[in-house]
Amino acid sequence: MDFKKLIRTHLKDFEAYVPGEQPTEGGWVKLNTNENPYPPNPEILTDLKNAADDRLKLYPDPFARVLREKFLNLYLKDFDTVDHIDNIFVGNGTDDVLEVLFKLFIEPGDDVIFFDPSYGMYITLTELYGGNCVEIPLGENFSFPERNFEIKGKLLIINSPNNPTGQSFDNDSIQSACESFPGVVIVDETYADFSDTSVLPLLKQVDNLVVTRSFSKSFSLASLRLGLAIADKNLISLMNRVKLPYNVNYMAQVAGISCIEHKEEVFENNKNILSERKRLKEQLNKYDEISVLPSDSNFILVKFENESCAKLMFEKLKERRILIRYFSKPSLAQFVRISVGTEKQNDKFLSEFDKILDKNL
Ligand SMILES: Cc1ncc(COP(=O)(O)O)c(C=O)c1O
Repeated sequence: MDFKKLIRTHLKDFEAYVPGEQPTEGGWVKLNTNENPYPPNPEILTDLKNAADDRLKLYPDPFARVLREKFLNLYLKDFDTVDHIDNIFVGNGTDDVLEVLFKLFIEPGDDVIFFDPSYGMYITLTELYGGNCVEIPLGENFSFPERNFEIKGKLLIINSPNNPTGQSFDNDSIQSACESFPGVVIVDETYADFSDTSVLPLLKQVDNLVVTRSFSKSFSLASLRLGLAIADKNLISLMNRVKLPYNVNYMAQVAGISCIEHKEEVFENNKNILSERKRLKEQLNKYDEISVLPSDSNFILVKFENESCAKLMFEKLKERRILIRYFSKPSLAQFVRISVGTEKQNDKFLSEFDKILDKNL
């Protein structure tokens, strides 16, 4: 059968998202997909082991109520923001949360607005739902674009801190975008636990803002898939109407609850990532040929003199079993993105980087 004849018209030329490589064999220094280089806190692993009992035969709580309560009382309480579990939605990773928002709002032909460069999934989701990608180039040095947002469109997506540039945008710019944009503004805060700033307090001032959070990065749970949205209760209730009934599995809920209960230790350990980020930046900035952009995330973006140097560095490191991220997109062709690893991984990376630069560039 020619299945292509049957698929939805707008998907005939659809190109799937290409995730960063996930080698199946060990022995790689993996600095390409912004995972946390440290395992989850040992207490989280104990809670997971204890939970893997008779409970597995039952369906999970479709609305993850305990997890939402913990997140409200133990996490959101540190911010001057919304104060009810009805303001919180739980999904199978941030990607699922984003897809629920697309499922809710985007019909073929709708405009979806986001910045360039930013997270590649925004393009994939827009195309999946038949929307039009309206990419707004970031300003000088990847700053917030200087324009107003009275443009038509149902969704405006701002990633802060922004992947792959690394920097957070300021709340005043985001607030004025929310005030002038006629649709829903998603602020994807997947990396916000590595930054000093968050838009969570803005939720008390504007009602068209959705903030998304992930457990993949700061909580080291990328493989369990857990993400959240925090927004106006009416919007969360609509999201719950269209999500799949059991979108978040039981083990992910258990791990999420445990992460929140141990967040102080987790964040203490993440300070290593912040100090290693500083060290990587200082070491790499010593080379005349490259410059490192400021970062509020668990990765850094490095600029080379030209595209071929950036690509060659990526390829030569890969030959030495070190993975970083190279993007062929024109706005990023001179750059590579490097996730901050453990001290040992970063030492290995820095030493191989130095040899490659010396020999080839
Ligand atoms: C900006 C951004 N948003 C969302 C995600 C996906 O997060 P999750 O693992 O929670 O689906 C990523 C993953 O790298 C990301 O970089």
